Amino acid sequence: MQIEDFAAESELPPVRVGLVGCGRHASFCIHPSLPYLPQIEVVAVCDLDESRARSTAGRLGVPAVYTQTGRMLAEQQPEAVIVIGPPAMQNPVGLECLAHGCHLLIDKPPGLCPADARRLAEAADDAGLIGQVGHNQRHSPAMRTARRMAASPEFGDPTTVFTKYCGEIPTEPFWGLEPLVRGLLYYQAVHPVDTSRSILGEIETVTAYQVQSGSVAGGGPIVAVLEFVNGTLAVLDQNTATPYFQVRTTITGSAGTSVDVVDLDRVTYLQRPEDTGQRRVEPADPGFGMFYEVMPAQTWQVPRQYPAEKAWGYVDQLAAFAAAVRGGEPGKPTLWDGYENLLALEAISRSLTTGRPVPIDEIRADLG
Ligand SMILES: NC(=O)c1ccc[n+]([C@@H]2O[C@H](COP(=O)([O-])OP(=O)(O)OC[C@H]3O[C@@H](n4cnc5c(N)ncnc54)[C@H](O)[C@@H]3O)[C@@H](O)[C@H]2O)c1
Repeated sequence: MQIEDFAAESELPPVRVGLVGCGRHASFCIHPSLPYLPQIEVVAVCDLDESRARSTAGRLGVPAVYTQTGRMLAEQQPEAVIVIGPPAMQNPVGLECLAHGCHLLIDKPPGLCPADARRLAEAADDAGLIGQVGHNQRHSPAMRTARRMAASPEFGDPTTVFTKYCGEIPTEPFWGLEPLVRGLLYYQAVHPVDTSRSILGEIETVTAYQVQSGSVAGGGPIVAVLEFVNGTLAVLDQNTATPYFQVRTTITGSAGTSVDVVDLDRVTYLQRPEDTGQRRVEPADPGFGMFYEVMPAQTWQVPRQYPAEKAWGYVDQLAAFAAAVRGGEPGKPTLWDGYENLLALEAISRSLTTGRPVPIDEIRADLG
């Protein structure tokens, strides 16, 4: 099996795109991805900060520079807009783009509360437009490879997902979100929540715990158990005590299988030794248990020559968006996925505060 890679080219005319927001994430991850994609033509660039917009336009060779989204939409009539900025801006600007008839790719999180995210999803549906949320993990070659393995008949049914995502607990409210931990959830935990949902489906109930470590400002690592409608489970380890920025996802299958994705870089597939014909070796002392000549593990490595924006899925997330716009299929994750992800974050937050399991439908009724 090959590492999945289909940041494909297209025979169709390129999608005419406007860019709104030229801050850190846009300029480090998204703009460098665009030259790989003949299926996207950037027709205009916009940022409140004109110098940022000009510098991005210069890098991408785009003449049209704006500091107001409305003017850009009116004068350039892009087919689609990629919005990347603070979520307090992304949500209203996203609505403005949809109201203007533009397909929308909006970075995570699509709002600062579930109700805002739902309004975006409804607006896209009402206008018959594509709405996609920027979750690069889903699109990374490593994660797509793992999902394909997990969907194969010999894997059995996925039963559990373990995700680890590292990040510091903020000491200032992130995007003004209180309590402090909500900012961390909206900024980072939203990624593993989305990844888990992309494998196991819809979440029913969430129970969350936090290590109360006096040595970590704002508290310690958070672990959340997500119970899915289909009876499967995910454990989300939002860890503040890791040596470097670690991202890890392990999927376990009902056929005694497991696939492990480390740092969106290595994929390891494990099967029961006897299922792969490995010879069992009798131990000298029966009390020692079983040994096998070889423990079968197959490992795939994302090619070293891949630049970070391709290895981490940014290029393919944009390719998926262009394909969705041209093909009319939903671009994943959809704005409805974005809404469900935020319901899960609020359930984690409420479970941390109340110390009890929190059903997603309780959050939907209160905040949805
Ligand atoms: N998917 C990922 O891996 C990933 C990683 C980091 C950040 N992000 C997301 O990217 C988004 C942006 O984060 P960032 O760190 O780049 O922020 P940033 O503060 O560096 O940049 C935001 C930019 O938006 C501009 N802006 C604000 N309001 C505007 C408006 N009304 N019109 C036009 N431009 C406006 C600002 O001038 C700034 O240049 C966030 O939603 C964050 O969650 C995603």
